[in-house]
Amino acid sequence: MNSPVSGNGWEVHIADCLLWLERFPGVVDAVITDPPYSSGGAMRGDRTNQNVNTKYRTSGAPALPDFTGDNRDQRSFAHWCALWLASARIRTRTGGHLLMFTDWRQLPSATDAVQAGGWVWRGLGVWQKPKGASRPTKGGLWNDTEFLVWATNGPHKPAPEAPCLDGVFVSASPRNKVHLTEKPLEILDALVQIVPEGATVFDPFAGSGTTGIAAYRRHRSFIGVELDTAMAATAAHRLRNAERGAPVNTETAAMTLWQA
Ligand SMILES: C[S@@+](CC[C@H](N)C(=O)[O-])C[C@H]1O[C@@H](n2cnc3c(N)ncnc32)[C@H](O)[C@@H]1O
Repeated sequence: MNSPVSGNGWEVHIADCLLWLERFPGVVDAVITDPPYSSGGAMRGDRTNQNVNTKYRTSGAPALPDFTGDNRDQRSFAHWCALWLASARIRTRTGGHLLMFTDWRQLPSATDAVQAGGWVWRGLGVWQKPKGASRPTKGGLWNDTEFLVWATNGPHKPAPEAPCLDGVFVSASPRNKVHLTEKPLEILDALVQIVPEGATVFDPFAGSGTTGIAAYRRHRSFIGVELDTAMAATAAHRLRNAERGAPVNTETAAMTLWQA
């Protein structure tokens, strides 16, 4: 396993998160993550055989690096999620939080897997994309939403000063994305506040490090794991930019931190 790239209160590891979790000796306060959805396409064949650019790229948008792990069918997606969710829960303090992105198609599997992993399902958040920044389905619903599954590791005993986060987050997909399925920083900025300053946020599917940037800026510690070397490097690069107070979304994915 590679050494992580780290900074002031954050670290990014290149690894399969399931294997990494087996060796991780620590405890985190929240798991805030966006696993590969294994969604997209109308048919099972589309979802399991097509690459992520074909499935998720908006027409006219530039191609971004492909990523792996997005070709499970619904049953194997649920089984696999239950595995990493169980491992992540064991490494989360009692009462700690899980916030997991998913879409409408995978929502039933995601909530089953969360509970199979031993988490207590507590509710849903909604990411609503504004009109003009989402794809309408003619003759049907607009399909302008994705979801957040909220759960805790056992009892939920919030501190008296704990905030109440919104349940609906209105935000367009980021401009100048460096990751094909990058999540809006403003949503992560809200989500990391589910734990107090100084707490540790863990993202086992760190992608371009959006969760980490939000955590860093809100004075939470961050541990990210990402399977793809180039993408892990992008995450570390964006975090370093955040540390310098530089823009985090003007960079391309080119980064060589781990390349000898
Ligand atoms: C949906 S993306 C996360 C995007 C992220 N939220 C962002 O804003 O950039 C999921 C990421 O999980 C990574 N991944 C897939 N399988 C993995 C695994 N087993 N362990 C760790 N990372 C994995 C993919 O390479 C991909 O970058």
